[in-house]
Amino acid sequence: TAVFLGQGREFARCRVGMLVWAEMLKGKRVIVTGASTGIGEQMAYHLARMGAHVLVTARTEARLQKVITRCLELGAASAQYVSGSMEDEAFAEHVVKEAEVVLGGLDMLILNHVGNSYFNYFDGDVGHVQKLLKINFLSYVAMTVSALPRLKDSGGSIVVVSSMAGKVGFPFTAPYSATKFALDGFFSSLRQELAIQKADVSITLCILGFIDTGKTSAMWTLLIRN
Ligand SMILES: NC(=O)c1ccc[n+]([C@@H]2O[C@H](COP(=O)([O-])OP(=O)(O)OC[C@H]3O[C@@H](n4cnc5c(N)ncnc54)[C@H](OP(=O)(O)O)[C@@H]3O)[C@@H](O)[C@H]2O)c1
Repeated sequence: TAVFLGQGREFARCRVGMLVWAEMLKGKRVIVTGASTGIGEQMAYHLARMGAHVLVTARTEARLQKVITRCLELGAASAQYVSGSMEDEAFAEHVVKEAEVVLGGLDMLILNHVGNSYFNYFDGDVGHVQKLLKINFLSYVAMTVSALPRLKDSGGSIVVVSSMAGKVGFPFTAPYSATKFALDGFFSSLRQELAIQKADVSITLCILGFIDTGKTSAMWTLLIRN
């Protein structure tokens, strides 16, 4: 499944779907990556309202502590965090192992985190592209590999947050866009392999349009000024 969000009608349809999901997610064990700010943080709050067990991760521990406090206030069945950087593949695997220990299994893996990049002409920095691929793509693969056995046990799901920039090559986003295209190739192929193997794990690729999280509008303002 590929879900396109950010446009009026699709968004409305998604809100109806959310009502159905509310019951379906009660008591489910969910990891949300990149949940210290922005879309990941808001997803954690939605899951909390639905009564899910939430495990959030990102680098900034102080922010994650606030997020889990808020999740518990909103009705999460439980809320935990693991802090660290997804640039390190071992950390990506550690998050999944930690979820298995504290949640006793896993029903949903929401891969959402994204490394910092610039919004400008490609500057030729290959090292930056490699670093971004580690954070935005390879850690998604590492977490998926670690989580698949548990997700197969639970008939669970993987949600991959991507972007229009992962479907169309827009200017000023070359490194970011490359990482998002990679996600589409990997997860669209893996979805078909799981179907062939009759594995009961769904993969949803979310194709987001522009969403004003504060940070993104600041980036646009900077570009327009320059
Ligand atoms: N906002 C939009 O307009 C838009 C449009 C299309 C797609 N998307 C996609 O939606 C997702 C969320 O975007 P957003 O706008 O909410 O981004 P955001 O506010 O910048 O949040 C990014 C999250 O990733 C975490 N993160 C960054 N570097 C990390 C690292 N090295 N290791 C672990 N965590 C790291 C950040 O926390 P720490 O800094 O604490 O680590 C933060 O929690 C992304 O996949 C993005 O590509 C967003």
